[in-house]
Amino acid sequence: MPLTDSYGRVLKDLRISVTPRCNYHCLYCHPLGMQMSDPPGTVSVTDIKHLLSAAAALGMDAVRFTGGEPLVRRELADMIAAAAETPGVKDVAVTTNGSLFRKRHKELLAAGLQRLNFSLDALDPQIFATLTRGADIKQVLDAIELALELELHPVKINAVVIGGVNDSEVVALAALSLEKPLHVRFIEYMHLNNAPFEEYRRQFVPGEETRRRIEERFGPLQEVATSPSAPARLWRIAAAKGTVGFINSVSQPFCSNCSRLRLTSDKKIRPCLLTDLELDVSWAFTAADPVGALRQALLTAAGKKPEKGSTLPTIRQRVMLGIGG
Ligand code: 5AD
Repeated sequence: MPLTDSYGRVLKDLRISVTPRCNYHCLYCHPLGMQMSDPPGTVSVTDIKHLLSAAAALGMDAVRFTGGEPLVRRELADMIAAAAETPGVKDVAVTTNGSLFRKRHKELLAAGLQRLNFSLDALDPQIFATLTRGADIKQVLDAIELALELELHPVKINAVVIGGVNDSEVVALAALSLEKPLHVRFIEYMHLNNAPFEEYRRQFVPGEETRRRIEERFGPLQEVATSPSAPARLWRIAAAKGTVGFINSVSQPFCSNCSRLRLTSDKKIRPCLLTDLELDVSWAFTAADPVGALRQALLTAAGKKPEKGSTLPTIRQRVMLGIGG
């Protein structure tokens, strides 16, 4: 029996933020300062095992680990193994900044990691450093190379486009798809960081404009068929090995195809990225029968999933860092 919300959407994708910590401090995401350890009450490996059993029994078959930066979490390999070993889970992925992938790839692959999405918003080392407040792009490029060598296909790259910050990089980023089977996805900047509204509006770049810039350089893009629930529509530059995609969450919201539920690192189910509503389900993890309690919690959360999220600039209770994208 699939998990279905009040609007008939089947919920297949579970995203789990495994830590609120990140070793990068991207301008658009992260408040400065990194805690050295996770706060008490952060989701544990056992919690994740219970949640995955409940979710998979309800037909959720794809798991993505996010953060913060998931690779700063020591137990990430155990979490991946828990996901890979849960009957019914078909897809286990991670969204990462890549910085720790070389160091940890062996244990993560041995645990059952199938693929990764890398966040990479610029190719110019200086722009990258400015955007990340000081990170070294070499580690990220090296991690992407490694993922290709290891054939963890499809290797996806996420780039959030921010006017005046990295919009000058979109052609260079799109060019990554030419020679290598990389899937570069341009994401519209969402107001999920409580940025000043005027500044946000100034910096917002519609996906159509990003696309126009890419076509200006490389000629018309060819459409590549994708599943209707995928947020990105995919295109190919003529003769390219990889693809480019546009996730136009603001200008073309894909709420009607949304198939996701999220668990925040402090154990709240968030039915919609773009709505503050969260259900505190920490009680279910400590119930006598946690899998049964979490099943109930998932059903309740599915029932409360809003029809649409709001992308209008507004002060949000929680910023992206604690949700994980
Ligand atoms: N708008 C759009 N995407 C964002 N991400 C983080 N913050 C935002 C935002 N405000 C992206 C990251 C990463 C993914 C987890 O979410 O760049 O790729």
